[in-house]
Amino acid sequence: MNTIELEDRFGISFCNRQAIAVESGAGSYVWDEAGNKFLDFTSGWGVTCLGHCHPVITAAIFSQAQKIIQNPNSGFTYSPSRAKLLSTLQGLLPPQLVKLFFANSGAEANDAAIKLARKITGKVKIVSTLGSFHGRTFNTLSVSAGRDNTEKYLPCLPENEFVGFGDSVAMCRAVDSTTAAVIVEPVQGEGGVRIPEPGYLAQVAEICREHNALLIVDEIQTGFGRTGAFFALEHSDPPVEPDILTMGKGIAGGFPFAAFAVTEQINSRIQKGDHGGTYCGNPLGCAVAASVVTELKEQNLSRRSHRMGLELLGGLTGLQIKYPEILAGVRGKGLLCALQFTSDNYVDMLTQICLDSGLLITPTRNKIVRLIPSLLVSMDEIREALMILDESLVRVMGN
Ligand SMILES: Cc1ncc(COP(=O)(O)O)c(C=O)c1O
Repeated sequence: MNTIELEDRFGISFCNRQAIAVESGAGSYVWDEAGNKFLDFTSGWGVTCLGHCHPVITAAIFSQAQKIIQNPNSGFTYSPSRAKLLSTLQGLLPPQLVKLFFANSGAEANDAAIKLARKITGKVKIVSTLGSFHGRTFNTLSVSAGRDNTEKYLPCLPENEFVGFGDSVAMCRAVDSTTAAVIVEPVQGEGGVRIPEPGYLAQVAEICREHNALLIVDEIQTGFGRTGAFFALEHSDPPVEPDILTMGKGIAGGFPFAAFAVTEQINSRIQKGDHGGTYCGNPLGCAVAASVVTELKEQNLSRRSHRMGLELLGGLTGLQIKYPEILAGVRGKGLLCALQFTSDNYVDMLTQICLDSGLLITPTRNKIVRLIPSLLVSMDEIREALMILDESLVRVMGN
C-alpha cells in the first residue's frame, strides 16, 4: 500500500483530505513523494511563519535535542531553555502581561485560560462570539462558533453565550455580573478572516471591566506577525489591555507549542497545582520558539507581513473585480487574507483546481478560501499564486 492507502486504511479520517502525500518542504514550497512541487499558501494552518524547514528552526531543534528534550514546566526543575524563551518574549507582550506558561496546542492554552478565569473570578459564564474558533477540547469547543459546532457533543459548558462578532451592543447585553470571562479573537481566522472595527476590542475590554469579567484575547492564529503587527491587538484603537493573552501556531514556526500570558493580578491568585502538563514548556519547544521569536523580531517580519499583505490583497482585489459573479469580496490583515465566494461549490472547485495547478490553499467555513503564506513569502511567489488563482478562477467560471 502507498502512503495514502495506508493512512486511509489505518487512520481515523475526521476531514476530507487532498490526495497528495507531502514529503518535504523548503521555504514557501512543499514536495510530494513523486517530486511534484506545490506553492504552500496554507502554512500548515497558519503555523509555518518562517516557511518550511527554516535553518534557524532546524538548527534550534538539532542543538537542543543534543542537550535535553524533556523537563516538564510543571515538574521540579528549572530550564535554561525555558528561561531564555521567557526573557525573549518580554518586551513583545503587552506590558501588563508579566507572567507566562507554556502549552502544546492552542486549544490547551485557551482551555487553561477559561479554567483559570472561572477559578479566579469565582464565576462560571463565558461569553464568546459567533463564528469564533478556540479549539477542540471540551472547554474550547463549548465557546467556539456557536451551537452548530457543539450539537453532537451536548451538554457543553453549562453557561456560555454567543454574541455576534464585532457587535459591542450585543456584547454589552450578554456580559453581566455572572460572567467570568469574554474570549475573543482580534481577527476571526477560521470564521473567515473577519476584521472588526478598530475600536471593538477596547469596547469589549471596557464591558468586561464594568462587570469584573476577564478579557481573554486569543492570538493563536493572529499573533507572531501574521496580521502585520506582532500581535493583532496592536491594531486596536484605542489600545486594549487583555487580562489573558493566548498564543500558538506561529510561536514555534511548526513545532507544536503554545502559551498564555497573564497580568500580575491574575498571577497573584494562581496557586500550586492549579494547572500543569507533562510536556508544557519542554526545553525542545522552548528552544525552537525562542529561535523563531528572535528571528521574527530581528528581521522585523511583522512589518514585512504588513507590506507583503498589501501586495497580496491588491492582487486579490484585482481578481474580485475580474470575477464578480463568483467572488463576493476579498479581505486581509497582513498575510491573513481571504476570498469570499458566492457559493461553497466554488470553494471546493477552486481548491481542487489550484491543487492540480500546484498551489495549496485553505477552504474555510462560510464560502471562504484563506490564503496564509509564510511571512517570508517573496514578491515572485505572491505573483505565482495570483497567476494560478487567476487561471483557476477562469476554469471555475467555465465549469
Ligand atoms: C484562533 C484560534 N484559537 C485556537 C485554535 C486551536 O489551536 P490548536 O489547533 O493548536 O489547538 C485555533 C486553530 O486554528 C485558532 O485559529
